[in-house]
Amino acid sequence: HTASLRAYARLAPVIPVVTIEDARLSIDLAHTLVAAGLPVIEITLRTPAALDAIAAIAKAVPDAVVAAGTVLHKSQITEVIDAGAKFIVTPGTPVQLAEDLAAASIPVMPGCSTVSEALTLAAMGFEILKFFPAAISGGAAWLKSVHGPLQTISFCPTGGIDLASAPSYLTLANVVCVGGTWITPMDALRAADFVRIGKLASEAATLRPQS
Ligand code: 3PG
Repeated sequence: HTASLRAYARLAPVIPVVTIEDARLSIDLAHTLVAAGLPVIEITLRTPAALDAIAAIAKAVPDAVVAAGTVLHKSQITEVIDAGAKFIVTPGTPVQLAEDLAAASIPVMPGCSTVSEALTLAAMGFEILKFFPAAISGGAAWLKSVHGPLQTISFCPTGGIDLASAPSYLTLANVVCVGGTWITPMDALRAADFVRIGKLASEAATLRPQS
């Protein structure tokens, strides 16, 4: 799973983290993000529309790589796989959930915010971790500090990152990409303002991709 997750994570410098209230918007949204150069899209399971949005994107937008985010419970693992999610993201990963995720049939990017959590997840076979909430947990300085001891672990920092701060993360050797909600602000989504979202996505897509 690590190889395919790494390939997904390297498709773009930024993974838009989307909380969607109306699944009917999801196909236009995914087309907008793909066209702007951000094909990897995390749909968070924070709204009743999320699973339908994942299913719609998986079916109608083959160029998108749709991930399920904010996965907190074992039952959600099967739900998001059935909906067509290509990988799973968690904000934090209690050991029981990590064990359930390790058995999943799709790749997982489990969340962590400490060295011990990162080591626990790495020992279970997860090599690309979401570092969340990144900015407040130590930001780019934390990632730089842990690169020595945690040499085999890569991170997708998310939480408090925006266009201005993303480059400070993307230059780090242990960062594969960053995640953030700034590309799909709630007011733009509610207004179905795909022009604005496309502009934000194009800006994000020009950030330095990780090599
Ligand atoms: C997440 O689930 O990854 C966070 O909600 C990201 O939020 P932010 O980019 O607005 O900090």
